[in-house]
Amino acid sequence: MSQTKFLLDESEIPTHWYNVVADMPNPPTPPLGPDGKPIGPEALTAIFPMSLIEQEVSAERWIAIPEPVREALNMYRPSPLIRAHRLEAALGTPARIYYKNESVSPAGSHKVNTAIPQAYYNQQAGIKRIATETGAGQWGSAMSFAGQVFGLEVRIFMVRVSYDQKPFRRSMMETWGGQVFASPSMETQTGRDVLAKDPNNQGSLGMAISEAVEEAASRQDTNYALGSVLNHVLLHQTIIGLEAKKQFAKAGDYPDMVFAPCGGGSNFGGVAFPFFADKAAGKKIRLVAVEPTSCPTLTKGTYAYDFGDTAGFTPLMKMYTLGHDFMPPGIHAGGLRYHGDSPLVSQLYHEGLIEAVAVPQLATFEAGVTFARAEGIIPAPESNHAIRACIDEALCCKQTGEKKTLFFNLSGHGHFDMASYDRYFAGQLEDFNYPEEAIHASLANLPKVG
Ligand SMILES: Cc1ncc(COP(=O)(O)O)c(C=O)c1O
Repeated sequence: MSQTKFLLDESEIPTHWYNVVADMPNPPTPPLGPDGKPIGPEALTAIFPMSLIEQEVSAERWIAIPEPVREALNMYRPSPLIRAHRLEAALGTPARIYYKNESVSPAGSHKVNTAIPQAYYNQQAGIKRIATETGAGQWGSAMSFAGQVFGLEVRIFMVRVSYDQKPFRRSMMETWGGQVFASPSMETQTGRDVLAKDPNNQGSLGMAISEAVEEAASRQDTNYALGSVLNHVLLHQTIIGLEAKKQFAKAGDYPDMVFAPCGGGSNFGGVAFPFFADKAAGKKIRLVAVEPTSCPTLTKGTYAYDFGDTAGFTPLMKMYTLGHDFMPPGIHAGGLRYHGDSPLVSQLYHEGLIEAVAVPQLATFEAGVTFARAEGIIPAPESNHAIRACIDEALCCKQTGEKKTLFFNLSGHGHFDMASYDRYFAGQLEDFNYPEEAIHASLANLPKVG
């Protein structure tokens, strides 16, 4: 058997993040204000520090990673690139399968890669508190931990359905000093309004974002932090793909296809964008975002200006969307229950430069179990989406005899998702149909622009 782990030294952690905007054929579409006109950076200063706003609008190819951020990332980076020999053998495929193991971060997922710089830049700007949202709890855990590293108080609005499904995620956030509220909550006007109409509302990422933005906008000492979607978040995550490229060079290999689960797009952008740089330079590589069939933003959504949150507090962003008030079914991959997608990922998809597939819930758990039994690590339900698509391709290779190199991002472990695995083993998980009517109804409420 050839080598399994491809490791880098701490000194090989990238010194700069990669900004895909520099290699996009067209400039990114601007965010719009309530009047339908492009907003300037000043419109965001109520909730973000200027350093992050500058990154949000930058077209520079390389952006330096501050030394204190690199020192904090040293706690768990570089993350290993693993050749999945045992999965290959279990599938009987001639394909070579590799995965980047982002589950080694303290909070258990890739989300820490941006939580650390976001906490750092806010602390530098004199901010004392961060308000944020979380779906499955991965982002909230990452932000609680990063708040602890840089001495910030962190308040987290956790989508109700995940709050109930994953109680130990809350314990984890509290261990790092975070304060957690089930969203919709009584802490904000947005939450109170929703609960007055529907006391059993299950919440959604869009709604939790509204609560966190409302809190951040109403207090001088508080800023907002988002775990995905925005350009600066995707920028921070490129550390994954940049490391992976160095590791593939050590392995003497290069991926034909890259797979990543896609909720708001930061995990996909993080692993895929550094490879997009090669694609833009003429290299042949396919970059595939994988999403749930029950929340099929890229594959079934509309490319239009929409709000990032349910209440309509955020600027309008041009993205694939299912409508900002779309309420996705309560699938166990809580981190993929988002109505929109990163504007950068959306634009690249719209221009046919990246691909997307949607996979149903049961098939993702089946893939996750196959992976766990072969490779040992129990993946997060979100990661199971990429594993499903990668296994499907490996099985195609088995049919055709092709020896493709397949690479996916293991975005997180599933140690706090075992109740979901229990339900899968007990035959209690369901495949939700594509919620066509709900999506149509929601798309009818898209804001009118221009
Ligand atoms: C483990 C894991 N993987 C993937 C995702 C999706 O990431 P993104 O929203 O950046 O697309 C999430 C989001 O919460 C997650 O927790």
